[in-house]
Amino acid sequence: MADSPDSPDSSPSFLSGIINEIFSSYLNIALIGLIAFLLYKIVRSSNDTSTPSAPPEPELPKIRRDFTIKELKEFDGNQPDGRVLVAVNGSVYDVTKGKRFYGPGGPYAAFGGRDASRGLATFSVVSSDKEGYDDLSDLNSMEMDSVREWELQFKEKYEYVGRLLKPGEEPASYSDEEDDNQQDSNASNKPINADDKPKAE
Ligand code: HEM
Ligand SMILES: *[C@@H]1O[C@H](CO)[C@@H](O)[C@H](O)[C@H]1NC(C)=O
Ligand SMILES: *[C@@H]1O[C@H](CO)[C@@H](O)[C@H](O)[C@H]1NC(C)=O
Repeated sequence: MADSPDSPDSSPSFLSGIINEIFSSYLNIALIGLIAFLLYKIVRSSNDTSTPSAPPEPELPKIRRDFTIKELKEFDGNQPDGRVLVAVNGSVYDVTKGKRFYGPGGPYAAFGGRDASRGLATFSVVSSDKEGYDDLSDLNSMEMDSVREWELQFKEKYEYVGRLLKPGEEPASYSDEEDDNQQDSNASNKPINADDKPKAE
């Protein structure tokens, strides 16, 4: 009777052994902390998708036109519709959905309504007092590459609006383009291919 099976206390001691083992090392504790943090982030982000914290702002209608520097300046987010435009190397992008960056009070507000090329190239968010068209001809090749990369990023994320006009350039007419909205009504008239059922053949 003295040597009773130690099964009742073998599992607690086994467990505490593991726990001891884990907490004996700061590295392990740090790793557990990291895992807990990541799990927390994952759980939180999957919750967030079901309940978006910020109500989505109504989207502004797309625009397609060219701008002079003076006209572009109106679109720094301070006007009633709140649209924000940014030009990069002669192309104007609608960055309204990035208003928290480029809008009033944003970290990159100096780019809103302006040609951001030089600032992006030189990693400067201080708005240059340079007036008039900036042809960027004095940038070195590294800075040129930087502009190119930034522009790719803008192209990917934001809607292209038109060209930034050099002095004396005339705006192009885009009125005969971009009627994609019309297409929807036409498409709905067409019968949709019902591929739900497998064809018996
Ligand atoms: C201490 C310096 C800086 C920090 C910590 C910083 C941080 C960040 C972060 C975290 C983002 C991503 C925000 C997001 O996607 O939610 C971002 C985006 C950006 N940053 Fe910076 N940044 C710094 C300096 C600069 C400078 C000097 C420039 C000027 C060229 C710049 C231009 C941009 C631009 C254009 C974006 C993209 C915003 C967009 O998605 O439209 N940043 N920055
Ligand atoms: C800027 O755009 C012009 C064409 O309009 C192009 O030739 C030039 O390589 C571009 N520069 C950069 C730095 O992207
Ligand atoms: C839609 O259909 C009408 C004729 O039914 C046609 O005149 C018009 O060009 C079409 N619009 C588009 C965007 O395809």
